[in-house]
Amino acid sequence: MSKALDGVRILDFTHVQSGPTCTQLLAWFGADVIKVERAGEGDATRGQLRDIPDVDSLYFTMLNHNKRSVTLNTKKPMGKEVLNTLIKQCDVLVENFAPGALDRMGFTWERIQELNPRMVVASIKGFGPGPYADCKVYENVAQCAGGSASTTGFDDGPPVVTGAQIGDSGTGLHLALGIVTALYQRVGTGRGQRVTVAMQDAVLNLCRVKLRDQQRLERTGVMKEYPQYPDGKFGDAVPRAGNASGGGQPGWILKCKGWENDPNAYIYFITQAPVWGAICKVIGKEEWITDPDYATPVARLPRLMSIFGTIEEWTKTKTKFEAMDILNKFDIPCGPILSMKEIAAEESLRQTGTVVEVEHPTRGKYLTVGNPIKLSDSVSEVKRSPLLGEHTNEVLRQLNYSDDQIAALRAEGVI
Ligand code: COA
Repeated sequence: MSKALDGVRILDFTHVQSGPTCTQLLAWFGADVIKVERAGEGDATRGQLRDIPDVDSLYFTMLNHNKRSVTLNTKKPMGKEVLNTLIKQCDVLVENFAPGALDRMGFTWERIQELNPRMVVASIKGFGPGPYADCKVYENVAQCAGGSASTTGFDDGPPVVTGAQIGDSGTGLHLALGIVTALYQRVGTGRGQRVTVAMQDAVLNLCRVKLRDQQRLERTGVMKEYPQYPDGKFGDAVPRAGNASGGGQPGWILKCKGWENDPNAYIYFITQAPVWGAICKVIGKEEWITDPDYATPVARLPRLMSIFGTIEEWTKTKTKFEAMDILNKFDIPCGPILSMKEIAAEESLRQTGTVVEVEHPTRGKYLTVGNPIKLSDSVSEVKRSPLLGEHTNEVLRQLNYSDDQIAALRAEGVI
């Protein structure tokens, strides 16, 4: 079966997490992704958070599947020549260097256009133009500057970062969409273009409901679905809302049987209006169905936290899985708090290819997350990440370098 991006060749100058997330997705869709790394060291994540000495870390292996690795020093003149050739033969260059690094290497947008006017040049930076444009940025900086941290956590605690890597992987996803969009436009125009995504912007895009709430707060002074209502105070900025659902359907995380010893014995419970009657019956509070203090969503808003307290008395008598089974019979939306251990063992995720076991030559078997985007006509196989420079000779030969020329590049420390 062909793959959606068969024939698309990506020059992958990405490192750490944000850029590699993007190029891994393109590789899963069938693009030929050639990852360029510095000889000897490679992507810094190869050596970070290692669980096995001298073996590529899981950090690296889980972000660089289906790619080829080429070592190349692009600051040496002979390395620049190889890069010239690669630029001429690739469709897309993706990079997430610190601001200005590609220009300092001598590969400005103008220079790349001279070499290959069809090339799409895609970049991730921490910030867009403005006061912080030159800053180096990592995940949590983006979460803080993009509005996520100020709106995550509990009202009586400090700002909190989330475990979901919305700054890095979230930005990589945005960039991947920008790239395929630019490739689509190129079909008509024949021209490449620049695609840029700032991590701050990507996080803010994912936090847009909080900017919605900022404006609601400024207009009305309260947000009735927030846990601060009706007893707490609202200031002039959107407060942290704990585990409130953030939408029109109030929700909260409730303890389940075993919570005293299991940090994940919890369930997310949503009091969706159409199933309010069913909720009342399940938890043994049938009188709430007609009680005017509870019967309507508006009546419930000022007493949400006490309602969740009562529902929790019921959830504490069930394991999170028992509660799931019972609640789903009545279409009551809820979700168990699954630990990574439970997710790793979840059979249905293995069957869909979302959790995959991969064989690696120096690491052995490891688990990874496969392509979460499923296309019916372009199957994603997950291939292990490349060893550093594993494909240098293969790629150079494809670029018509002779064995003597390759030996000369190696002797000069270029590859
Ligand atoms: N050959 C020669 N030099 C190379 C090279 C190669 N193959 N690959 C990289 N380099 C050089 C770069 O040109 C740069 O040199 P310069 O500083 O002299 O211009 C240097 O290596 C370091 O690159 P840099 O991007 O500054 O790495 P860093 O480790 O100092 O910073 C980040 C890491 C992530 C903070 C930074 O790259 C960044 O802010 N990126 C944009 C935002 C981002 O993606 N952040 C999230 C990462 S998950």
